[in-house]
Amino acid sequence: MSERPAVDVDRLLGRLAALGEIGAIDGGGVCRLALTDADREGRDLVVTWMHDLGLRVDVDGIGNVTATWPPDRLDPPVLMGSHIDTVATGGRYDGNLGVLAGLEVIEAVIAAGVATTHPLAVAFFTNEEGSRFAPDMLGSLVHVGGLDVETAHDTIAVDGARLGDELARVGYVGTQPTPAAAPHAYVELHIEQGPVLEAEGITIGAVTGVQGISWQEVTITGQANHAGTTPMGLRHDAGWAAARLATFVRELALDLGDPQVGTVGRIDLHPDLVNVIAARAVLTVDLRNTDDAVLGEAERRVDTFCDELAAAEGVTITRRELARFEPVEFDPRIVDLVEEVAVAHGRTVKRLPSGAGHDAQMLARVCPAGMVFTPSVAGISHNPAERTEPNDIGAGAGVLLDVVLRLAGAVEQPPYLDEAPPA
Ligand code: GLV
Ligand code: MN
Ligand code: MN
Repeated sequence: MSERPAVDVDRLLGRLAALGEIGAIDGGGVCRLALTDADREGRDLVVTWMHDLGLRVDVDGIGNVTATWPPDRLDPPVLMGSHIDTVATGGRYDGNLGVLAGLEVIEAVIAAGVATTHPLAVAFFTNEEGSRFAPDMLGSLVHVGGLDVETAHDTIAVDGARLGDELARVGYVGTQPTPAAAPHAYVELHIEQGPVLEAEGITIGAVTGVQGISWQEVTITGQANHAGTTPMGLRHDAGWAAARLATFVRELALDLGDPQVGTVGRIDLHPDLVNVIAARAVLTVDLRNTDDAVLGEAERRVDTFCDELAAAEGVTITRRELARFEPVEFDPRIVDLVEEVAVAHGRTVKRLPSGAGHDAQMLARVCPAGMVFTPSVAGISHNPAERTEPNDIGAGAGVLLDVVLRLAGAVEQPPYLDEAPPA
């Protein structure tokens, strides 16, 4: 006899807290950069929980981990998931919520004794953040066949490590092939990481898609010289050129207007000394827009500015693409379903695009995919102060559960995507 499954919010919060202890940093945050020792420890803990639930745990050649219920089912599951790697100054919720809520959904289904038409699975994908190895969403990109595993293994980190070596070191080179077989559908619960839901007093976001992302690394080479003796007109100052470019990126985003955003998040100067004109600057440019044509225009304007800057200061400027992903629209049937379930739960709900990148945008290449957002307190993320209220976590996990049950076919309903399309 089965009962109606229900998520246990305290159990979910307990797992979030326990995982948040691994790589904990001051201010309640987390540093678990991809494939570091802290990431290994986090992975091991989540895999232990997966085994404890009796799930089949599979690891592929890029270290993505997928746990399936029932364990003997090999047909395409309704897949949930996200990532457990963090930025160096991350919070406890980014990515972790989607993975642990997926685990909670499966635990609730098992506890209720409910059999679903399609199996259920939860995954965590390697190196979603892209802070250590570019591009971001690398594991899910390999999962869907957008990048071959050998090229991914050869990726070099900002600290000089090779991804394949680090993956072997932490013990997560698995045997499952990539690209993986497409799931039946994919749903990811994630914190919004922005201010919209909280500002409008809304509990659930039905995510319509993800904006396009362009990352480049810019290297400016000038000439080291004495800061006291070199007249201003005779300098080839890589530091000044980097500052000019950073200023330009901000002005460019303002000029193009919403939703264009632009960020220079990293600047390394060499030799980085008070009395030496910088010989080299390496900086990153992150541009994003929901409209790919405008994003392309922003990239072209950065190119032109770099050419003019190089000529004006007598420096050389080279650019290397770190990531380039087009905007993605989620399957409208899943967006509708998230909205429908949220309304049925008595939640306020709003359709909105995601400003951050997510594994769901990669899965959308191979199966119907969508996302559920919960509000972020003060819109803060990629910061130890990142927080989502427990009630909102409960609401989001509850919506995820019922969306997944509808997709998987349960509670006396045929699987949602298997229903004949309306005439
Ligand atoms: C990755 O999560 C990003 O959006 O930067
Ligand atoms: Mn994330
Ligand atoms: Mn993130």
